[in-house]
Amino acid sequence: MSVKKVLRMGDPVLMKVASAVPTYNTPALHALVQDLLDTMAAQDGAGLAAPQIGISQRVVVFGIAANPRYPDEETIPMTVLINPVIEPLSEAVADGWEGCLSVPGLRGEVPRYTHIRYRGFDQFGMKIEREVTDFHARVVQHECDHLDGILYPQRMTNMRAFGFEAELEKAAEAAAESDAAR
Ligand code: NI
Repeated sequence: MSVKKVLRMGDPVLMKVASAVPTYNTPALHALVQDLLDTMAAQDGAGLAAPQIGISQRVVVFGIAANPRYPDEETIPMTVLINPVIEPLSEAVADGWEGCLSVPGLRGEVPRYTHIRYRGFDQFGMKIEREVTDFHARVVQHECDHLDGILYPQRMTNMRAFGFEAELEKAAEAAAESDAAR
């Protein structure tokens, strides 16, 4: 299929509650899923939701492949998740840095549940049910928020932990150097 333009924060489609997908395994649904996967790969993203390419339907894709350069990084199986439902399995919440292809160049610290169960269907209508923690749980909550018209800055509680990626990296390097000098 094809790489689509990713809508940016401020576009009204990103603020809408997306509609449920009524039927699985249709040519239109397969085409939408392929567009999402192609666009995510082209942007080197960890996840993408249909509203981000202008389609207000409850479809998300996410996944992080193993990178031989970073063997310790967590991986997430490549997943197509449709009509998802998330259930927190504990009250525990943790802060973590997030970015979003609809908020390019920026990063912010967002509180998310650390232990969730999610359910939904793939594009063929096969049931998906997983219990996950930490980073995997964070990615799913971020992507599913897009289906309710929520972008991560709206979840932030500490707006001081928000900035441009390049500046945050510089600041982190400077802090690490001054730690090392001590
Ligand atoms: Ni996003």
